[in-house]
Amino acid sequence: MKTILITGCSSGFGLETARYFLERDWRVIATMRTPREDVLPRSEHLLVRALDVTDPQSIRETVEAAGPIDVLVNNAGVGLLSVFEGTMLETVRATFETNTFGAMAVTHAFLPQLRQRKAGVIVNVSSSTTLKSLPLLSVYTASKAALNAFTESLALELLPFDVRVSLVIPGQSPETPFARNAMAMMRDQNVIVPEAYSGFAQRIFERITTQRSGPFTTALDVAEAIWRAVNDPSCPIRQAAGADAVELAQSIGAP
Ligand SMILES: NC(=O)c1ccc[n+]([C@@H]2O[C@H](COP(=O)([O-])OP(=O)(O)OC[C@H]3O[C@@H](n4cnc5c(N)ncnc54)[C@H](OP(=O)(O)O)[C@@H]3O)[C@@H](O)[C@H]2O)c1
Repeated sequence: MKTILITGCSSGFGLETARYFLERDWRVIATMRTPREDVLPRSEHLLVRALDVTDPQSIRETVEAAGPIDVLVNNAGVGLLSVFEGTMLETVRATFETNTFGAMAVTHAFLPQLRQRKAGVIVNVSSSTTLKSLPLLSVYTASKAALNAFTESLALELLPFDVRVSLVIPGQSPETPFARNAMAMMRDQNVIVPEAYSGFAQRIFERITTQRSGPFTTALDVAEAIWRAVNDPSCPIRQAAGADAVELAQSIGAP
């Protein structure tokens, strides 16, 4: 039985991916900042663990508790919709701490065992905002674009060790609490809209947050793309996940 460890399993794509692999007879280590046993079906093949990807001690404890794993999915992420000028550098850093450095830190911690066994897959969950730039997403997009670049270079470095590294690039998914969580984070971090940008920012906020018609991405689209990245060695390194992301990737000639 193979083992997958997924970050950010309390909701959304991570939760669905944990469920998807459990149903297909994988041993799943579902990690989340605040462990909750009730979000996933009870199973002897499920281990729910606390993991904050920005906390080195938490990462060390997770590596010890996990033992050997076959697959790592860096899914944990935070959103940020903000005017750059109204965003404190502290908030910029906090976004990168989770979306970019968090994924790097967890990868760094699990890599030695994958390299030594000459087997394994690392899947990083990015965003379709890296395919087409949108306003108010400069920081979020930069954090995910850095993740893309990191992933693609690391993939080449790990080729000699038969460790595959790939990207899943989801589109917009209103079914997950991602936007709500982003809004809460923005309130906590005192993100403001400078007066000079207010009319412009308002229009963009409305367009993004009230868009009702699809196509959109579902959590299942993302779980399926992760499944393919893990189980199909011929899978391309970048996979768009969700009808909107696939459409966007095709429109710009991206794979
Ligand atoms: N939904 C979208 O429209 C969309 C589109 C493209 C890409 N994505 C990406 O997809 C991934 C999953 O997003 P989602 O839509 O499933 O949103 P979500 O439901 O908000 O899931 C995000 C997960 O990340 C976790 N997380 C946040 N900070 C963390 C940290 N420091 N350490 C560990 N876990 C942390 C959250 O846990 P807590 O419960 O502890 O906060 C939550 O479980 C993210 O990387 C996101 O950037 C989302």
